[in-house]
Amino acid sequence: MTTTKNILIFGATGLIGEHITQAILDQKSHFDRIGIYTSDNTLWTKHEDIGRLKSQGVEIFSGNVTSRDAVNEAYTGFDTIVSCVGRSVIQHQIQLIELAEKHPDVKKFFPSEYGTDIEYGPSSANEMPHQQKLKVRAALKKTKDLEYTYVVTGPYADADSGLFLSARSEEDEQSGTFDVQRKRAVLLGDGEGKISLTTMYDVGRLTVAALLHSEAAKGRALKVNSFTATPKEIAAEFERQSGGHQWKVSITSLDKLKQLESRAYQQGSPQAGVLTLRRIWTEGGTLYERRDNHLIGMEDGMETLEDAVKRAIEVQMA
Ligand SMILES: NC(=O)c1ccc[n+]([C@@H]2O[C@H](COP(=O)([O-])OP(=O)(O)OC[C@H]3O[C@@H](n4cnc5c(N)ncnc54)[C@H](OP(=O)(O)O)[C@@H]3O)[C@@H](O)[C@H]2O)c1
Repeated sequence: MTTTKNILIFGATGLIGEHITQAILDQKSHFDRIGIYTSDNTLWTKHEDIGRLKSQGVEIFSGNVTSRDAVNEAYTGFDTIVSCVGRSVIQHQIQLIELAEKHPDVKKFFPSEYGTDIEYGPSSANEMPHQQKLKVRAALKKTKDLEYTYVVTGPYADADSGLFLSARSEEDEQSGTFDVQRKRAVLLGDGEGKISLTTMYDVGRLTVAALLHSEAAKGRALKVNSFTATPKEIAAEFERQSGGHQWKVSITSLDKLKQLESRAYQQGSPQAGVLTLRRIWTEGGTLYERRDNHLIGMEDGMETLEDAVKRAIEVQMA
């Protein structure tokens, strides 16, 4: 078992990377060094975020994620790599893993997961959005001395663009929407199937807890969440918190969702992967007999449906 003392984060300024990095900083007394490895482009385009991180003692390394030399050099002195890279660079983690295994200092690698369990059941192996992440898991399983954990959180209970509690345009609303301004919800399935959700704030806290509970977390898909709720319960909470007026609610059945998904693939739409994930969630693909929060000391104190909807309303009304 490796105690995490020195953490290098990839994708630290991205959507989930920001929350994970902040959660690591919130617990920085546990760690000696916190670094980020970022692209030259991000150094320039997000210089204010980078400045804020620097002022909190974060070490900044920059280079291309595919540069073996730059990555190898940045690894020096770090025992743990936390990757939060975006979907378009998932496959480059295979090289990051190879370099990590060979590097004398790196002992632990958290790949960019933070979503649906890509090995949930036999059909998971055929799901299009899972393909790159499956290759990354295969690369980790091949390593001999590297510890790893897949942090599996289900969909984010947040309202940032495209996320489960967001408002989608009228054109796209059949793929599910919770629209505060229009008081409109489109629920997936029959609206009564439970979905396991995690707020991005909790994804950060749960990832830190997994880093700090190495023995319990290592070598597994750690299936954690904030709460479970049905689409009907979520819509009811939105109604309650947005003045109590009744929303216009309709449903997109599972069959209809599958039709939308296959049409999106036929048309080469960028929405295809999103529809697959929403179909998986609607089929119950985020539910487990028991969540793993207790393994990392996070059974209590998770955000609730009420917290998530409160923030979602703020985000949508901003
Ligand atoms: N559960 C959910 O609902 C949900 C939702 C969204 C995402 N996720 C998962 O969360 C993980 C991170 O996704 P994200 O949306 O947070 O990522 P993101 O914001 O799209 O990107 C994160 C970072 O990856 C690097 N990156 C992204 N695109 C790149 C490109 N084309 N070339 C080079 N570098 C690039 C950038 O880092 P630098 O510039 O700093 O190098 C970027 O800040 C993924 O595994 C994703 O599947 C889950």
